[in-house]
Amino acid sequence: MSESLAVVVLAAGQGTRMKSALPKVLHRIGGRPMLGHILAAAKALKASRIVVVTAPGADQVAALAREWGAEVAVQEKQLGTGHAVLAAEPLLSGFGGKLLVLFGDAALTTVETLNRLASKAGAGADLSALGFRAADPAGYGRMVAEGDTLIRIVEHKDATPEERRIDLCNAGPVAGPARKIFELLHRIGNKNAQGEFYLTDLFAIARTAGLKTAIVEGSEAEMLGVNSRAQLAEAETAFQARRRKELMDAGVSFAAPDTVFLQADTIIEPDAIIGPYVVFGPGVTIRRGAEIRAFCHIEGAQVGEGAIVGPFARLRPGAVLEEAVHVGNFVEIKNARMEKGAKANHLAYVGDARVGAASNIGAGTITCNYDGAEKHFTDIGAGVFIGSNSTLVAPLKIGDGANVAAGSTITENVDADALALGRARQVAKPEGAAKLRARLKSSKKKDV
Ligand code: UD1
Ligand code: CA
Repeated sequence: MSESLAVVVLAAGQGTRMKSALPKVLHRIGGRPMLGHILAAAKALKASRIVVVTAPGADQVAALAREWGAEVAVQEKQLGTGHAVLAAEPLLSGFGGKLLVLFGDAALTTVETLNRLASKAGAGADLSALGFRAADPAGYGRMVAEGDTLIRIVEHKDATPEERRIDLCNAGPVAGPARKIFELLHRIGNKNAQGEFYLTDLFAIARTAGLKTAIVEGSEAEMLGVNSRAQLAEAETAFQARRRKELMDAGVSFAAPDTVFLQADTIIEPDAIIGPYVVFGPGVTIRRGAEIRAFCHIEGAQVGEGAIVGPFARLRPGAVLEEAVHVGNFVEIKNARMEKGAKANHLAYVGDARVGAASNIGAGTITCNYDGAEKHFTDIGAGVFIGSNSTLVAPLKIGDGANVAAGSTITENVDADALALGRARQVAKPEGAAKLRARLKSSKKKDV
């Protein structure tokens, strides 16, 4: 898009149907607030101005808008979508370019579709609106059309039974010359079922003013408007399906795609293999050729090339697995770097630590990183062997090539190549078990 595109995002509605203390546009899809998805799209369209319309006192919404470099206009009273667009007029009074209006509760529309909509205005039409064929059109505004010419939009609540049979629905977004849109919006009224100033009335008015109005169609999956929790869940489902498909198209394997949950910011490189039932939280990068086996939970973590994780592993924020690392079942890694080829294959907790290259962490090993008040670091060198069921009490440093005997409690640093034993010496009494058994048996008889 050229420099002359401004985007206005409507985000002032109360969102009453969500029954939430959180403003609707801050509810998340793929871990990112709906408004964040929309602002990302506006950025990708290279809009020179982005204005978010908020309700008074919606500080969190305004803060998110500013984080994305958008300006904020306050709509004092929520009198409808047309009225909301006018709240942005003072900020854009000097703006003579094209305006694209987006709804804050429709987060899945692709940049490609929005580009088609914006391009249509000024090339073949003056104003353009985005439509889709809905499986269940109830609740949406219906588009009365002649070919791709938009005659008018009628809101569900105002529609006649005949109009309600129209399945071509209004997705919300509108594009056209900014000055013209503002001028026409001053002429709309609120004599309708909801007593609101509808943005959708713009088109009928535009036609009486001799303007050409066109419909650009897209698929339902990217038009879902979120008004309720159930619709939020539907939008999440649509988003997940799209991200999985995008990743598969880019060369990632999924054994059971429908069981894997991704975030908007999940990065998975080609030739990675993702098993069934894997959940990704925010901030994850999976490098080329890594394999994530079934039932892993991964957030804030990096998994290096060719690493193998799971089944049943948990990677928490700050986990960095370098190339060819193995992390097996029931292993939890937090804020720890496992260097190239290091292994923790079973039942371990590695937190606030470094595990040097090719070191092996035995089953049942725990880094005791927390003393009840503070967190401490465990530094394990390269080529170290930590025997099973070891308790590593941090702060602790274990030198390269050291060996910690199984079952040890280690409280002091271990030098490179040293063998550390931190356990009671074993005692075995000959015939002791047999004698004990006999004693227990005779005392049992007496009791009876
Ligand atoms: C709107 C459209 C409808 C369309 C549907 C698509 C109108 C009149 N209706 O209906 O044709 O099919 O979206 O999902 O435009 N908002 C404000 N200020 C207000 C009112 C709303 O900023 O005074 C914002 C809301 O925060 C929301 C968006 O505008 O992000 C749409 O409002 P909403 O009340 O959800 O409209 P719908 O009834 O869904
Ligand atoms: Ca809506």
